[in-house]
Amino acid sequence: MNKIEERINELIEYINKASYEYYMLDSPTITDQEYDDYYNELLNLEEKYPELKRDDSPTNRVGGEALDKFEKVTHNTPMLSFDDVFNEEEIILFDERVKKVISNPYYTVEPKMDGLSGSLTYKNGVLVRAATRGDGLTGEDITLNVKTIKTVPLKLKKNIDIEVRGEIYMSKLSFEKANIERRKNNENEFANPRNAAAGSVRQLDSKITAKRNLDFMAYYVPSPENYGLKSQFETMEFLNELGFVTNKYNTHAKNVKEIIENIEKLSKIRNDLPYNIDGVVLKVDDLKDEEKLGYTARVPRWGIAYKFPAEEVLTTLNEIKFTVGRTGKITPNAIFSPVHVDGSLITKATLHNEDYVKEKDVRVGDVISVRKAGDVIPEVVEVKKERRKDGLETFKMIENCPMCNSPLIKKDANHYCVNENCPSRQIEALIHFVSRDAMYIEGFGERIVEDFYNMNYLHNIDDFYTLEKYKDELKTLEGFGEKSIDNLLKGINDSKNNSLERLLFGLGIRYVGKKTAKILATEFGNIDKLINADYDLLKNINDIGDIIAKSVTNYFSDEKNINLINRLKEYNVNMKYTGEKVDTSNEKINNKTFVITGTLSNPRDYYKDILESKGAQVTSSVTKKTDYVLLGENPGSKYDKAKELGITIISEDEFNELI
Ligand code: IVH
Repeated sequence: MNKIEERINELIEYINKASYEYYMLDSPTITDQEYDDYYNELLNLEEKYPELKRDDSPTNRVGGEALDKFEKVTHNTPMLSFDDVFNEEEIILFDERVKKVISNPYYTVEPKMDGLSGSLTYKNGVLVRAATRGDGLTGEDITLNVKTIKTVPLKLKKNIDIEVRGEIYMSKLSFEKANIERRKNNENEFANPRNAAAGSVRQLDSKITAKRNLDFMAYYVPSPENYGLKSQFETMEFLNELGFVTNKYNTHAKNVKEIIENIEKLSKIRNDLPYNIDGVVLKVDDLKDEEKLGYTARVPRWGIAYKFPAEEVLTTLNEIKFTVGRTGKITPNAIFSPVHVDGSLITKATLHNEDYVKEKDVRVGDVISVRKAGDVIPEVVEVKKERRKDGLETFKMIENCPMCNSPLIKKDANHYCVNENCPSRQIEALIHFVSRDAMYIEGFGERIVEDFYNMNYLHNIDDFYTLEKYKDELKTLEGFGEKSIDNLLKGINDSKNNSLERLLFGLGIRYVGKKTAKILATEFGNIDKLINADYDLLKNINDIGDIIAKSVTNYFSDEKNINLINRLKEYNVNMKYTGEKVDTSNEKINNKTFVITGTLSNPRDYYKDILESKGAQVTSSVTKKTDYVLLGENPGSKYDKAKELGITIISEDEFNELI
């Protein structure tokens, strides 16, 4: 070994030791400056002598070359997960099943980390491969990305061959930071740390992953007997010795009573943990017992995952704020003191309409309980009437538009502002026009649309296509760099080529949703034919009823709207259907109903668009009519419902095969 190689080895050793002390033990022994000096020296040597760069060098943590795609990886042993249970009775049943095989079971009780599982393979102590779970049999190679995770040892403290499994997750703090960054860049915020972790680990550019600050917690070793291990707890100790972080809240229980006590303790501290947990994992501790219990065709019999019930959190209702939608509909919204619910910070929830508020009898100043319905949308569950202070005023619906003061009109349960020049309605219509399912002009968040409206650059939707004129002026606006304006203008220009259905949806014709817009676009092929279509012609189309037919003819009989379309034509906005016709050739998909659940490698709309283009329907709840459930990681109750109803469940890989 030459001197340079020796120095490189020495530096790696210093840096690894320092990182271990800093990230794993929380007790650094060198200063940040010393660390940086070692690091920079190593970086310089590696640049000068690339042939001497080691695979486990800590400089890999900043990320490397971007990939075109992820390679597939076959797991040596399938990456299974446990069956989920939701209450004490089910835990008792699990314990009874275990006791049929083992006389005195001893359990481990572990926090169920809410991230995504990963498998790390070490050869001779060096991390050589990291993979996602995928469908359990085949995952994706995410080695470069995982190397950026500070709590993943690149080199173990023992030179052994081993596979270690655990959870890749994002701490609450890193999640907040990532979202601050995204807000700054006008990007959509991550809904929760799990999505943020899943999105970050599947970046083709590992430099982006490096910035997201992910973490890893180890919890499982396949074939632990190969390392002389006798229990789950010994496995955890062994993992610590190798340099992994394991959960310090892992405990033991010898019966259901102790299990429940531990679950209760964990649910009490859950909100104070620096990361999200969504339940508790129970495992039989003794590895011999595990072996005796074995596996069903799908899951281990030696463990189970208990999921916490959807969290309901108490908060105070500070205000009922009215918003005006693009159709003029007035919605009362509950604005409450910010609270963390199932991992996300929430501050408001819709109260739908006057009747809804009155039925719940919600009053400003009330203590209310809130939760996330269907795991995402905040909802007011109930008012804690027993805690109501005297003198709180009953809710009174407003009579005038909160924005333009026009008198409101009541239709069925809803109130509307009918002033077409109401600024709120106009802003909402502009936001709708550029939104994802409409013209999809990227970069135009709500705030920018509102700012441009207030600065008089935007008024009607066709004004987007005149923004180019103000290019130089826009570039001088505070908060808008040259590049961001260029990107916006490029997005606007690109949108001119969209297929007709996007424009039809974007126009905001009452009752013409995304699906109807597609039907109209495919049926008529271009906008002029649609403009000339009369009520009867429209009404005769499948899935177009009386209300839609009336609304469409109404819209196109208004001269103002025809003028708008003519202006759009002048700006060369495409008015023809150019999108792909629905391809009905795949019988396994055409006319079938799909439900998508869990975290997949792309946003849900990606799968939805593919399925719909092949004639399938994608719905949100699992019923007897559902044909397939497309299953991602960490699915919710839809998965259980699908199992209960015996519906075909497919993984992402099976989905890819199907299409
Ligand atoms: S053990 C055979 N331990 O929750 C299962 N999993 O169903 C081996 N998880 O998908 C996994 N915390 O991603 C295990 N302490 C923990 C865990 C844990 C979270 C995840 C894991 C798996 C699911 C359990």
